Amino acid sequence: MSSKPSRENIGGMPHSGYYREIPDEPDMFLCGVGRGTPGGEYLRRFWHPVAYESELGNVPLRVRALGEDLVVFRDGRGETGVLFLHCCHRNTSLEYGIVEERGLRCCYHGRLMDTDGRILEFPGEPNADRMREKTSQGAYPVHVFGGIVFVYMGPPDRKPVFPLYDRLTLPGVELVPGVRLPLDCNWIQLKENTLDPAHTAVLHVIPQLRGMDHFAGEFESFPEIVWTDTPGGLIYLAARRVDGNVWVRSAETLGATIHCISSIFENGRVAKRATPPFMTFWTLPVDDAHSINFFISHVSPGEPMPFDKRRALEVFGQYEDRPYDERQWIPGDHDAMVSQGPVNVHDAEFLGSMDRGVTMFRRFVRRGIEGVMRGEDPVGFYLDQAAVPPTFANDCVVPEVSIAGDPADGKVLAEHARRIAEAYLARPPMRDL
Ligand code: FES
Ligand SMILES: [Fe+2]
Repeated sequence: MSSKPSRENIGGMPHSGYYREIPDEPDMFLCGVGRGTPGGEYLRRFWHPVAYESELGNVPLRVRALGEDLVVFRDGRGETGVLFLHCCHRNTSLEYGIVEERGLRCCYHGRLMDTDGRILEFPGEPNADRMREKTSQGAYPVHVFGGIVFVYMGPPDRKPVFPLYDRLTLPGVELVPGVRLPLDCNWIQLKENTLDPAHTAVLHVIPQLRGMDHFAGEFESFPEIVWTDTPGGLIYLAARRVDGNVWVRSAETLGATIHCISSIFENGRVAKRATPPFMTFWTLPVDDAHSINFFISHVSPGEPMPFDKRRALEVFGQYEDRPYDERQWIPGDHDAMVSQGPVNVHDAEFLGSMDRGVTMFRRFVRRGIEGVMRGEDPVGFYLDQAAVPPTFANDCVVPEVSIAGDPADGKVLAEHARRIAEAYLARPPMRDL
């Protein structure tokens, strides 16, 4: 009779399946988004995207955010409201409501609700004034920016400003609203993907290998990567040698749910100190196992390709828009993230040094959750626009002769990336545009 080896003793054992434990408990302290949960209270300190303005028409839009069912609408005065989905009278869904000049009217008995949830009319009720004092429809504050409707679902006395990061207000750079990118998995998986640049050298090279235009081919080499905290979140810097140059690409997360990437078309062949912003994403945690990325594209004058082609490449592989067999042949970010499971089980992972961004992000969120539990405000929460920190996602390309040491040595590349990080922190790159 054979005794079962302990987990530590399995190591690199071949045919180890029989002995392996299969952890299946996700870390819901970190990943939970619902009302009253630690993660849900943390997330309720930030603005979240719920709709593109272009989706608001003459009927209300049903949405789900942080595990709550809501309805978004724009009334005849042009004001936008986000209300609880179910009417405060007898729970009929307001997705069937009638959009009017002064608000949204429930389709069942006609209560008219203002964008802030106050009931303006109680048809057929003689005691309307008294009822108005006693009841209102659940509602949340709204902010519209860049063609996206954002909602704040946290305590009203701690309502933050909508953070206008430096990259969002650059003169001459147009902000073009994107499309919904829904993913059937927990929001943390989406953000970890941003801080995991090693995957660009594998996942984003498969399309080229299989005959499709995608990221620049220069992404193929594995970069040397460093990660660092920033005042507003986390950043990675990935250094590669390209044709006599050293190219340092970076992307970053801001607060909990925002991420910014630099151009997927950069190839590191022309020296440059700073590049304009490329895309900014706001991730909506829909519920524990569903998320939606909303985004804007930053379009600078002199873009290298027509915008419709750029957009097609931007969103390639970002949601389930292709048949399964096609995604199996050329998988995208969507397939990598969603196939980790509805809520990725961290205990079942075996991480290496390339995963430092993943572990840093989890620590960042855990610290934020614990801080909110103690009554503190998390990174990414600002009561004053003047407190909003700068952003950093960028590309920096220098001739390799200009850096100290042999750039064929990975340590030299990593050291160069570290120096770029210090330079960014000392002088945020958006100022050089
Ligand atoms: S259920 Fe909405 S007014 Fe009656
Ligand atoms: Fe990716």
